[in-house]
Amino acid sequence: MEFRGKDTSGVAWVEEGELKVVKDSVPVGELYAKYGLKDLRVPRMLGHTRYSTHGKADPRNAHPHVDCRRRLAVVGDGALRNYEELLMEVLRRGHRVESKSDFEVVAHLIEELLERYESPVRSFLEAIARLRGFISLVALFADGTAAAYTSHQPIYVGLGESLVAVVPVLTSLYGLAGSYYEVLGGEVAVVTSDGRVLFVDLDGRTVIKSPQPLRVNGDLVPKGGFPHHMLREIYEVPYSILRTASAVQLKYLEMASRMIVQSKRTIVIANGTSLHAGMVFSYYLAELAGVTPLVVSSSEFPLYYVDNVGVGDVVVAISQSGETSEVLKSVYEARLRGATVIGLTNNINSRLTRFSNIYIPIAAGPELAVPATKTFTSTLVVLYVLAKHVGAAVSRVERAELGGLWRELEELSRMVLSSLDYVSSQAREAAEYIGSCTSGYVVSRGITYPLALEGALKIKESSYLHAEGVEGGELRHGPISILDRNVFTIFIEPLESSAAADMLNLVAESASYGSPVVLLSHSLERVNLPVKVVKVPKTSRHLMPIALAIPLQLLAYWLAVLRGVDVDRPRRLAKVVTGTVS
Ligand code: AGP
Repeated sequence: MEFRGKDTSGVAWVEEGELKVVKDSVPVGELYAKYGLKDLRVPRMLGHTRYSTHGKADPRNAHPHVDCRRRLAVVGDGALRNYEELLMEVLRRGHRVESKSDFEVVAHLIEELLERYESPVRSFLEAIARLRGFISLVALFADGTAAAYTSHQPIYVGLGESLVAVVPVLTSLYGLAGSYYEVLGGEVAVVTSDGRVLFVDLDGRTVIKSPQPLRVNGDLVPKGGFPHHMLREIYEVPYSILRTASAVQLKYLEMASRMIVQSKRTIVIANGTSLHAGMVFSYYLAELAGVTPLVVSSSEFPLYYVDNVGVGDVVVAISQSGETSEVLKSVYEARLRGATVIGLTNNINSRLTRFSNIYIPIAAGPELAVPATKTFTSTLVVLYVLAKHVGAAVSRVERAELGGLWRELEELSRMVLSSLDYVSSQAREAAEYIGSCTSGYVVSRGITYPLALEGALKIKESSYLHAEGVEGGELRHGPISILDRNVFTIFIEPLESSAAADMLNLVAESASYGSPVVLLSHSLERVNLPVKVVKVPKTSRHLMPIALAIPLQLLAYWLAVLRGVDVDRPRRLAKVVTGTVS
């Protein structure tokens, strides 16, 4: 499961009633070799590989985390939304908190309850009732009991000949188990000290489950059951949205919004996909907070803009990797001139976090495919939540609305999850429809215009098919002249009603020139035009850019598959672009 993170790893086990733990900043394979764990034969083991979101890649922050009395060990995935509150609580009650990882507080919470009840399962259930956010976690108790809980994303209990394995990715049971149980959001799996497996709900009531035979294609195991990391990462979007929403901590959102509100000017810098997310941010800020930031590529920033930047300006630097050289150079130059930097990154161990005054984690989990997908949607989540807080800071957004953000994102996550297969099959048909073209446009207006740019970038880098993002109003100012049957047009239905009406005329006109037209529609009931319609489920207006990104990513993916491109590693591209500036 190393594709889920390998910043640090750790293992706990029970040996003669005692908990032992080793952890280190190495991938799990190396951990086993380094600590001679391969020959260890013990009845219970609990392991974890980590991608840091709270607390950097340091052995202290590695899981498993133990309580003060070493009666239990905990590993977790996701992020606790109420971490700060729980941390204060356990510190006030005198616990020794040794790491900056949010899941350590869970070990201390269970510890207190175990003191009171002496029942591992009851303590576990009462502790998880206190936890908020997107999480999966397993606790191993010194008496040999293990309990696993998941809030949203299913986890699996595999049954082997002489083994029970609890895992978050079904394919990792390959070779270990012949059958498995699926544990759904809100359920708890228990392995008792004498090895029985049972399931309960949060009130401790038994849940009856039947095991299913495990059928896994061995070739797909390294990519979690998918043929490509890119497709796996798109399928992770419903969960990474929640992972991100759980990881952004109120304290930092408020700090960042104050900085933006009090700044003379806000400048957003980024490259590629992150730049497109930054553009969507400018629409969010304009509408929700009346702030109109300057959005500029970090490649351009040092050339003309940096000399006008100084004390009182805020630079929002967005970088999935946190290591893009243009971003780092721009941030460095901006700070030399006295600007304040807010960094947004998916890699909290990056130089961007070190160079920023404050940073906000994107927390989408590791992204291995070169084309960015789940990190784009998660970046949009962070930027939307931040824009709402900026809006609240200037009293344009009701404070009460902030409390509803989690629910709104949970709703989005559910909608994306339930529509993914359908959207993917439509995107595949659309890819077949335009696949023989030699180039094309992705067109939209308003807040979805940056998505047109992003869609075109995704198509180019994933499938090598030439595509250009065009603002709808600009189409008749030149680009329309080359439309014919070899040049496709993909229209994204705008969210602004006046823009949407104009767009339909453009759709009809483009089709009349023979261009194979795809229309990504979220509100039109019926389209009486010779075009391929991809229906995208509707969600709230500000979350539609996230919902619309997914069919574009899938379209790019299916174009790549049709055209035989190695989509995870497109030629000439690197996941992290370094060394292009001095
Ligand atoms: C995205 O699909 C691209 N691979 C690329 O444009 C990327 O977004 C760009 O290099 C910026 O990367 P960063 O977010 O890590 O800074």
